[in-house]
Amino acid sequence: NYYAVVMAGGVGSRFWPVSTPDFPKQFHDMLGTGDTLIQKTFKRLSLLIPKENILILTHENYRDIVREQLPSVELENIILEPAMRNTAPCILYAAMKIKKINPDAVMVVAPSDHWIEDEVQFISNLQRTFDVCERDRVLMTLGILPTFPNTGYGYIEFNKLDSRPIKKVVQFREKPDYVTARKFIQSRHFLWNAGIFVWSVQAIIEAFSEFQPKMIELFNKGNDLYNTNGEKSFINEHYPLAENISIDYAIMEKANNVYVLPATFDWNDLGTWGSLYDKLPKDCSENAVVNAKAFFNNATNNIVRTDSDKLVVVDGLSDYIIVDKEGVLLIYPKKKEQEIKTVSHYIEDKL
Ligand code: GDD
Ligand code: MG
Repeated sequence: NYYAVVMAGGVGSRFWPVSTPDFPKQFHDMLGTGDTLIQKTFKRLSLLIPKENILILTHENYRDIVREQLPSVELENIILEPAMRNTAPCILYAAMKIKKINPDAVMVVAPSDHWIEDEVQFISNLQRTFDVCERDRVLMTLGILPTFPNTGYGYIEFNKLDSRPIKKVVQFREKPDYVTARKFIQSRHFLWNAGIFVWSVQAIIEAFSEFQPKMIELFNKGNDLYNTNGEKSFINEHYPLAENISIDYAIMEKANNVYVLPATFDWNDLGTWGSLYDKLPKDCSENAVVNAKAFFNNATNNIVRTDSDKLVVVDGLSDYIIVDKEGVLLIYPKKKEQEIKTVSHYIEDKL
């Protein structure tokens, strides 16, 4: 009854110029380990989920990249979206397909671009959430102990007095502003949402019926067509009509049957160059180098990545991101890394 839905349709623009709309970060070996992030994600999930029950959802532009990077995945398990509509439509579409194959299925929804090292803990946490969702119609999240007021994450409030390992969620708040995030962290009963969800197909479809009736109505029209020859043309016509909204806003903020298991594995969403830097090995001056040769003098806390044999020589520079990629050389202060997204849009428009 176990299924996995890997979401691999995002663009990852804060990792520009390595991550681009043509070749986003989930398809790169960001850590220099030999595997791309989606390959790592697939391997990790296949420790618990049978390979034939792992679905990869992505935009149709990325079809060939997924086929090439995950050759062991059957073609019918690579589900193509004709339009980018964020994670809510993508999850509902997958749930409708799975429900038709197995109405008692429990599914994990996982991002394709995160760093999780401790697979044993990951699998044991996942198993616990599957056990709960086989029994109860609840929406399970995995919570991460927050370390700073990151405004790029969802925040999960739990009841401080609840000493059970799996806690009822009081409030789910997606991407609060900085002041609110700081308040949440200080109150000490908030966790970050890891972006990994577990639920039965029945529980999530029920939640969509309640909170996204229009979207359910749209996808219900294809009920007889899922997993048949008629699916593709139905999806090409109807999927683009779905609202562009993430699962966090569409369902998680609204539902009142959300639960959280505080995760016991180290997690990093590799959202920015700085978060990648945190995960890389550093030299004695705290410089990190991926896929590159570099020589540092009087330079600290930098991250350097090239895709060529070029030797990078850095003197007198600290806390910088230095990335050499085909037509672009990026030299950017780490403290402004959130702006890379905007800059990349601006520059790609001009080019
Ligand atoms: N198939 C598909 N289609 N995948 C998508 C789409 C889409 O239209 N849009 C995004 N994705 C994929 C991304 O590739 C990524 O793996 C995952 O879905 C999550 O999307 P992000 O765009 O990276 O979300 P986020 O980082 O802003 O926020 C989410 O993750 C945070 C943790 O990293 C939220 O769930 C937050 O609450 C959470 O804290
Ligand atoms: Mg993300």
